[in-house]
Amino acid sequence: MTANELRQKYLDFFKSKEHAIISSASLIPENDPSVLFTTAGMHPLVPYLLGAKHPAGARLANAQKCIRTDDIDEVGDATHHTFFEMMGNWSLGDYFKQDAIAWSWEFLIGKDWLNLDPKLLAVSVFAGDEDAPFDEESYNLWLAMGVPAERIAKLPKKNNWWGPAGQTGPCGPDTEIFYWSGTPETVPAGFNDDNELWVEIWNNVFMQYFKNADGSFSLLEQKNVDTGLGLERVLAILSKCDNYQTELFSPLIKELEILSGKTYGSDVQTTQSLRIIADHVKAGIFIIGDQRGVTPSNVGQGYVVRRLLRRAIVQAGKIGIDVKFNHTWMSKLISNVIQTYIDIYPELEENQNLITIEIEKETMKFQNTLENGLKEFDKLKVEQGRIGGVEAFNLYQSYGFPLELSAEIAEERGLEIDRAGFTEELKKHQDLSRTASAGKFKGGLADSSVETTRLHTAAHMLLAALRKVLGDHITQKGSNITAERLRFDFTHSAKVTPEEIAQVEKMINEAIEKCLDVAYEEIPLDEAKATNAHGVFDSKYGESVRVYTIGVDNKKKQSEWDEIFSREICGGPHVENIGKLGKFRIQKEEASSSGVRRIKAVLE
Ligand code: ALA
Repeated sequence: MTANELRQKYLDFFKSKEHAIISSASLIPENDPSVLFTTAGMHPLVPYLLGAKHPAGARLANAQKCIRTDDIDEVGDATHHTFFEMMGNWSLGDYFKQDAIAWSWEFLIGKDWLNLDPKLLAVSVFAGDEDAPFDEESYNLWLAMGVPAERIAKLPKKNNWWGPAGQTGPCGPDTEIFYWSGTPETVPAGFNDDNELWVEIWNNVFMQYFKNADGSFSLLEQKNVDTGLGLERVLAILSKCDNYQTELFSPLIKELEILSGKTYGSDVQTTQSLRIIADHVKAGIFIIGDQRGVTPSNVGQGYVVRRLLRRAIVQAGKIGIDVKFNHTWMSKLISNVIQTYIDIYPELEENQNLITIEIEKETMKFQNTLENGLKEFDKLKVEQGRIGGVEAFNLYQSYGFPLELSAEIAEERGLEIDRAGFTEELKKHQDLSRTASAGKFKGGLADSSVETTRLHTAAHMLLAALRKVLGDHITQKGSNITAERLRFDFTHSAKVTPEEIAQVEKMINEAIEKCLDVAYEEIPLDEAKATNAHGVFDSKYGESVRVYTIGVDNKKKQSEWDEIFSREICGGPHVENIGKLGKFRIQKEEASSSGVRRIKAVLE
């Protein structure tokens, strides 16, 4: 089965169970600073899991592009990725455990579907603790499906609880399905999730709780199902090979073999390097290819792209790719990945130029960094043939030198690195950045606080006003809203003059004074576009979308919308009337990247 067939089979299956098929959202969460990337299909659905009505209904399914960097150090083994696709089905207050479990099982073992051998499957359920009871219902449902008791593990929250995506939000106990990836003859009678040959393939989360800011859990009014089935892992099972030998990776691995003259599988180190390069370059391509203004940089999402690409370049050097003098190796990899996904993610081909320019620029920059780093290396303090952990860590921090690279260069010079000291320094830094990123979880979709909602509505007004003042060429390139301020990126080649800024502010503040109403409707995307609705969206034609309109003049008390200020495709939430937004003020206007300007604004 090809990857496209597998994706389609999954979607067809859930269509037959009356699910609406929705598009993959962008990897860059829209209007949501609570996480850097879309890490699961549920992430863009948080408002709906909390009770908002989804335009496509209460049963949804899709294949979602995801980026996860928590497991970045695991990449190099057979099953971990930073970029992957997650097939998911959702019940928004509709079906619950019984149907979710029965359908997962039917899809996996059904003759017309994946036809997997049930003897090679095992499951786990939540064992219960002080926050929530043992999930006896799921346990009994699995027994009823014919799964033997010794193949049903009862595990704690660490294993069998999912969410929230941020610090607070919807979450719940889950039940996970594992497949025996060893030879069928060696499958053990029981299930033990410590055995790495049991590979988790599907997670069914029963989102019936909300995690509060104080760490406590409340029951949600709406009981939801959120599932995730890993496309790459299932394809590997069906293709009887490892993830990197499936058609989602094999053309890229082949290209790398040609470039390096090395063979996949020839030795552990080479195989690991080939996997890391393939995974990281693909992730970089997808992130930049979403065209939400993310390019390699030193902050936020851009820093992740930079790290991924730099790690790939170091590995490429290690397996003998001439990263310095071969100027086309990256563009070959980029074309290769785009060909693999051309039917499903056409945005990659549309943005091939941008992707190639940005990745090649980063490759050249890193080449210089490497050279400077090498010079720095020679200046490092050496004590008794040993380079200190702090020194090695600084090289890692400032020049992107991974420990193993420093260790190798040290070895070439007859020196060694204090690895324990390095790890200690790294851990200190990670703790710090974890604390910093915990701060990120404030605001965002998971937190539909009054402040963020008001600024979200203000962002719509800003786009509308910019289009009125600067022209119709203005499109949104991304936004980031916290409880304190709004940041908004848009296409425009010149600096916005102080006069233009004053005009934009005036237009928005006059609209606020008019107390215009905000209303929404759910209509097909084609219809929304025909009525000039703007905004960033990932939906395809034929899908229903939510359109927010700011523009009923309340003072005139007319039923007709006589003055439409803004009309945008967006999931919400928004205020119902803009009268209480306060005063809109632009604090700063600056360049963000080439052809993209950035505005920071507040409501006072
Ligand atoms: N959100 C769940 C996961 O990512 C399905 O595992």
